[in-house]
Amino acid sequence: MVQRLSVVGRGALAVGSAVLALSNPARADMVAVLGEVTGGAALPHLKRRLQRTEVGSEMLSTLEPGRFPENGSETLPSLRALPEGSLGRAYATFMDSRKFEPESRLPVRFVEDAQEAWILQRYRDVHDLWHVLTGMPTNLLGEIAQKWFEAVHTGLPVAVLSAAFAPMRLELRKRALLAEELAPWAVESASDAVDLLAIRYEDHLARNLDEVRAEWNIKMPQVSEPSLLYGKKWMQRMNRT
Ligand SMILES: *[C@@H]1O[C@H](CO)[C@@H](O)[C@H](O)[C@H]1NC(C)=O
Repeated sequence: MVQRLSVVGRGALAVGSAVLALSNPARADMVAVLGEVTGGAALPHLKRRLQRTEVGSEMLSTLEPGRFPENGSETLPSLRALPEGSLGRAYATFMDSRKFEPESRLPVRFVEDAQEAWILQRYRDVHDLWHVLTGMPTNLLGEIAQKWFEAVHTGLPVAVLSAAFAPMRLELRKRALLAEELAPWAVESASDAVDLLAIRYEDHLARNLDEVRAEWNIKMPQVSEPSLLYGKKWMQRMNRT
């Protein structure tokens, strides 16, 4: 259901949600509202960009596929059953290992243009899939690096805001790693990648993850101190195998 807003209402919602979202990024609902009321010029720009691609313009004209994954949590068992090393299997493992549920991605409510609403919903729904593609962990540093990637790739103000303000919450060594290595990686790889909003992921879930990464030109970061980014547990797991 689209909710119409006056300019004043939109402004009030933007300021209120910005204050709440920035003071407590765990308020996903406020981050979501902020993203919708600040979509501004970024969404029409993304719409034109998608329309220039064959798959993007087809998805925009049909507003299909709908939500990702198609049936929310009910889709996960079929993704778990996909071959080891596939994009869909990796996504299911990512969600399972973090006890994430697709349903926690909220529906878009305040964007009136149906195609722009579709784009913003798609961006929100494939966030976890993009984590899988970039290999970014979901700790604070990984989330911020991922936001940098998303900010460069989409130009959406909500991503730009998180990328700009969240680093203040990082300890110094991590902030340095972000500034010196991860942000430059994000800028380069988000610019080099194909348009990730113009992909019908539903058609590629059974494909090998490394193969789609190469095809879509997504480069993983080379980090001088991987344990700072990925955490000790992850490193121990890597060393064992
Ligand atoms: C989603 O549900 C519909 C209706 O039950 C079904 O036809 C479709 O195959 C399901 N898709 C997935 C990916 O599970």
